[in-house]
Parts: sequence; structure tokens; C-alpha cells
Amino acid sequence: MKAVKTEATAFAPATVANVACGFDVLGFALESPGDEVTVRVTEERGVRITAISSDDGLPDLNLPTNPQENTAGGAVLAYLDGEKAEFGVEMSIRKRMPAGSGMGSSAASAAAALVALNALVETPLTPEALVDYGMKGEAIASGSEHADNVAPAIMGGIVLIRGYQPTDVVRIPSPNNLYCTVIRPHCEVSTKEARGILPKEIPMKTAITQWGNLAGLIAGLMKCDEGLISRSLQDVVAEPHRAALIPGFHAMKQAAIGAGALGCSISGSGPSVFALSASREAAEAIGKAMHEALTEACTEGTLYISRLSDGAPRIVSLR
Ligand code: HSE
Repeated sequence: MKAVKTEATAFAPATVANVACGFDVLGFALESPGDEVTVRVTEERGVRITAISSDDGLPDLNLPTNPQENTAGGAVLAYLDGEKAEFGVEMSIRKRMPAGSGMGSSAASAAAALVALNALVETPLTPEALVDYGMKGEAIASGSEHADNVAPAIMGGIVLIRGYQPTDVVRIPSPNNLYCTVIRPHCEVSTKEARGILPKEIPMKTAITQWGNLAGLIAGLMKCDEGLISRSLQDVVAEPHRAALIPGFHAMKQAAIGAGALGCSISGSGPSVFALSASREAAEAIGKAMHEALTEACTEGTLYISRLSDGAPRIVSLR
């Protein structure tokens, strides 16, 4: 594969993985925050990470610059190897969202790097093909090749990962008036730890409840049926085990439902918590209620509001 441009910067958004009932198979993109990655073509083969910076107000990051230990570096290495690139790259990563937040920080960097690299080559890959390389980055961060953050970070909108062998990803249409409120408590939960506490097996009854909810949520989104969406936004697989890792989780969930949310659960592996609602006004009222509940229970948090269908990656500059 040949490069036909020399430098690209791409933005890729934060994402909410699992969406309550879709553990490892469903996720959606937010409008913001997100990460930006600049990729430059070099004659020398391989990947060099020249800088990792973070926006003001974000906690200090100690992210590795060794590409094999970095989610964006690992994803780009996999792309260059897999597509037999006749060039190498230098990349600089601008973190505009906190790591360990449950909002797909590692996936946002990997997705931005892949989208930027893809803009430089003679024959760009499809977003679906990029997802496979993105998962190599996720494996570095969490020990597992899940795509429920990286697929929506690359494809935008709501994405179902129908299957993993081979990767089969599907964009799910959603009602125009659906909004997401996310609150990020100011603490960290590592995805590795949050995956480690989950049982290796679940009872048949639990599985039946979960797959009924997942099918109900997909049908509800496609039929624009708020009642069905609301009834389906229940997680009986991960939330019961992970809630204890999140300060104020039950208080925030109660506040969200009390303020009119269609549903509320953990964003990815936490500690962020998300709620869905049917208007921007409702999303804002829910955010206020969740924030108050969080600060009363224990700690500060940062609030994000986004329309569900608006989140997507984009090229910021190209030459
Ligand atoms: N589906 C993954 C998990 C997402 O819940 O572990 C991690 O952000």
C-alpha cells in the first residue's frame, strides 16, 4: 500500500459501550469530547510516537510512547503490517478526554489514528475494515479485542457488533430526538479490573433476560418506540457486579430515572454513567439531577450531553 498524502489530523469521539444490555456488542458515539491524532508519513518503516499531550484540566497521563504498548500505536502498526505499507509513520496524540473514564478513551485515540492514516493512503479501507485494526489497540488497553467502543468511534452513530469471527458490524438507525447524558465521576476504573470481576459464566435465565432486552432495544431504536427502548435498557449481566466500583452509582441512577430518563446504566466499564432521554431539555434536567446526586453521595463529576445520532469521526486537516 502506498501513501499519496503526507500528513493528516483526525478527531474521533468518545463512546458509550454496552448501552446497558449489549455487553461487548453495542455502542454509540458522542459528539464530544474525543481525541485528535496527527499522522505523518516517513520513509523509515514502523511507527514512532513523537508526542502525547493532554488538554488543560485533564488528569496527568502516563501513556506509553512505545507503539506496541499504546492503543493508537498498536492499531496503526497492525494496519501498516496488515496492508503491507511501503512507508512508516510518526504520530502525535492529543488527548482531549480522560483515560480510564469508561468513555472509550483508548478507542478514541486508536480510531483517530486509523482514520488519519486511512486519509493518507492510495486505496483507503472501509470503516468496517478499520474496526478490525482498532480492536488490536483495544486488546493492548484491556486484554480483550472488543469493538463496542472502537466501532462507533470509527463509524459514528450506534453500532451493533453482530459477530466477531469475522467482525460483522451494523449501523443501527435511531430516533432523531434521542439524547444521551453522561456523567463522569472524578475517579478511575480500569477496564481490566472491571472485566476481571465479571463471572465467566451466567445462568440461562440471566442470558434470556439480557438477549430479550438487547433485541428489544434494537427493535425500539429502529421503530422509534420510546416505551420499548425504555423497557429494554436493563443490564442484568455486568451492572450488578460493576456498580460497586462506581461511587454514587445507585443514587445517580435513581436520580436519572426520577428526572424522566428512558434508562440509565454504566458507560462501558465505568466509572462514567449514561442515561438516555427523548429531548435535549430532558437530557439537561437529568444531568443536573445526576450531578447533584453524585456530589451529595461522594464526589465531583463532569457532564456531557449529546444527540445520539450526531457523534462521528472527522478529518481536521489533510495535506
Ligand atoms: N464492553 C467493554 C466492557 C467496554 O464493558 O468491558 C469497555 O469500555
